[in-house]
Amino acid sequence: MKHHYCFSLFLILVMLELITISSVAYGQGNVLKKTLNSSSLHRPKASLSIDYYHRKCPDAEGIISQKVSAWIKKDPTLAPAIIRLHFHDCAVRGCDGSILLNHKGSERSAFESRTLKGFQLIDEIKSELERRCPETVSCADILTAAARDATILAGGPFWEVPFGRKDGRTSLAREASMVPHGHENITTLLEFLQGIGLDMLDLVALSGSHTVGRSTCHSFMDRLYNFNGTGKPDPSLNVNYLMLLRKRCKRESDLVYLDAITPRTFDTTYYTNLMRKVGLLSTDQSLYSDARTAPFVEAFATQPFLFRSQFAVSMVKLGNVGVLTGSTDKGEIRVNCNYVNGA
Ligand code: HEM
Ligand SMILES: *[C@@H]1O[C@H](CO)[C@@H](O)[C@H](O)[C@H]1NC(C)=O
Ligand SMILES: *[C@@H]1O[C@H](CO)[C@@H](O)[C@H](O)[C@H]1NC(C)=O
Ligand SMILES: *[C@@H]1O[C@H](CO)[C@@H](O)[C@H](O)[C@H]1NC(C)=O
Repeated sequence: MKHHYCFSLFLILVMLELITISSVAYGQGNVLKKTLNSSSLHRPKASLSIDYYHRKCPDAEGIISQKVSAWIKKDPTLAPAIIRLHFHDCAVRGCDGSILLNHKGSERSAFESRTLKGFQLIDEIKSELERRCPETVSCADILTAAARDATILAGGPFWEVPFGRKDGRTSLAREASMVPHGHENITTLLEFLQGIGLDMLDLVALSGSHTVGRSTCHSFMDRLYNFNGTGKPDPSLNVNYLMLLRKRCKRESDLVYLDAITPRTFDTTYYTNLMRKVGLLSTDQSLYSDARTAPFVEAFATQPFLFRSQFAVSMVKLGNVGVLTGSTDKGEIRVNCNYVNGA
């Protein structure tokens, strides 16, 4: 009975988001709230659009997806890396390519960014696009499309990417620490996401990208021996999983799969893991122990279609966070993703 209620509620939420996505989700903010606020429907819409490059650079998406699949074929670890890089871009100053800037004191140079990868792939895509359509395709757009393509290659859903982001000119190392690092409680995560216009459903859906990729032991080491000063491991860790992790983590820099069961497949095993106390990060496991998010975990665990469609919707929302559009926004089309123009 309780399950029934959760699923129905959930279906309604998902359908509402799907229905409204094409008309109102291109700006930031809570889609549901926007849907219910009729006056907001008459406001001008943000200017990202799916056909933004159709005339300016018709082959842009094709070039990006070709490069992404060639590189991921050679190195499958790049798929999760690019998805994460896109998140870290959007989480700070919006999706403006700020994470790509490679100067002293930039986000990328911060301690918190040390395990980000995939920059060379973005650089190669950019130089090809500069040959084909000079000064036309922004680095922020390249990263957004590459994250979608990487998702598909890992077995995840497709979605149309709205384009037209400009690249920002500011990137500060200290702001890299704003991105959640795996030790937060759900309240803190929700507040962070609310700050960039995302909600609880987005949190649970987007965390599902931890169905692929790896984490350094540094990010969860505190759970293994002396959790929270108790002298004992985290009680929300399955005992066999705990033993495995202790074996795998000799050093803080050792890498462990975020999804222990199907580490390279974009599926819902991440969520079933949480229901068996096999979540790697404390923040992952909290999604199931917190009463606010647990119903969504259960729904995704049992309804792969719901996960795939909501993931697509939430990724479009993530890609819309704080975008610089138009000419008034102090954005530019960077010629080299590593440097602002004229630097
Ligand atoms: C909001 C809460 C989130 C937290 C606390 C979190 C935390 C983390 C941490 C600690 C790692 C491992 C870093 C390391 O030690 O090397 C990681 C990896 C990863 N994260 Fe998240 N993350 C969150 C959200 C997201 C979102 C929204 C996405 C994408 C949409 C994402 C995609 C990934 C991916 C794909 C990896 C694996 C990277 C690789 O294998 O190279 N995460 N995350
Ligand atoms: C609807 O949205 C507009 C613009 O964001 C805002 O000014 C107004 O207060 C909102 N109305 C309601 C009823 O929430
Ligand atoms: C969550 O974490 C924040 C920041 O560390 C803390 O202030 C707050 O009390 C915590 N909330 C809960 C419910 O544990
Ligand atoms: C850590 O310990 C504090 C104080 O004992 C407690 O309030 C908090 O809930 C604990 N955190 C976790 C994640 O168990």
